[in-house]
Amino acid sequence: MIYGDRVRLRHVEREDLPKFVEWLNDPEIYQGLSMHTPLSMAEEENWFETMLKSPKDERPLCIEAKVDDGWQLIGNSGFFDLDWRNRSAELGIFIGDKNFWNQGYGTEVIRLLLCHGFATLLLHRVYLRVFEDYPRAIRSYEKAGFVHEGRQRQGEYHNGEFHDVLFMSVLRPEWVE
Ligand SMILES: CC(C)(COP(=O)(O)OP(=O)(O)OC[C@H]1O[C@@H](n2cnc3c(N)ncnc32)[C@H](O)[C@@H]1OP(=O)(O)O)[C@@H](O)C(=O)NCCC(=O)NCCS
Repeated sequence: MIYGDRVRLRHVEREDLPKFVEWLNDPEIYQGLSMHTPLSMAEEENWFETMLKSPKDERPLCIEAKVDDGWQLIGNSGFFDLDWRNRSAELGIFIGDKNFWNQGYGTEVIRLLLCHGFATLLLHRVYLRVFEDYPRAIRSYEKAGFVHEGRQRQGEYHNGEFHDVLFMSVLRPEWVE
């Protein structure tokens, strides 16, 4: 477990998959993740089996929030496309339970992951991509310390329009715990 003040990150269990399928079929969530077709339980089970065979440091983590009587699953996050030679990785996150949006949970999870990435995995660079029409996501990445480094013009199509894709990153020397 990786513990923060109000959240913790733990391994994904098979029992989590129905919640992921529910959330990842919600347009408000899947569009931000560049998905555009419905997701089935069978596909998610396939993803889970493949994930179990990947190196431990490269597996996504469940986000749980502290609630009155314990811990509640609210989303998923982690590093992918880890490039060990260049000590670089892409960060991905979604909070599927919308009751937890806009209360600083996303920012806290990202800060926790940056700490894990820089202090434990000894990464040098963490980057992400985000669509220009996702101000909530952009703001939470900025709050967690990501800086804007570039823009891919009209790189993503959704809601009947092309949108720019923003590239953001944090380098280890810039990281403030
Ligand atoms: C993106 C996501 C991880 C952010 O997590 P979160 O817990 O909701 O975000 P936080 O509360 O930490 O920060 C959100 C910030 O955006 C601001 N915000 C929200 N809506 C906004 C809007 N329309 N315009 C500008 N700022 C906005 C909030 O006010 C807050 O900033 P503040 O603390 O300065 O007031 C989460 O909302 C999510 O998973 N969404 C669905 C999936 C998704 O879009 N993923 C992003 C893929 S790139």
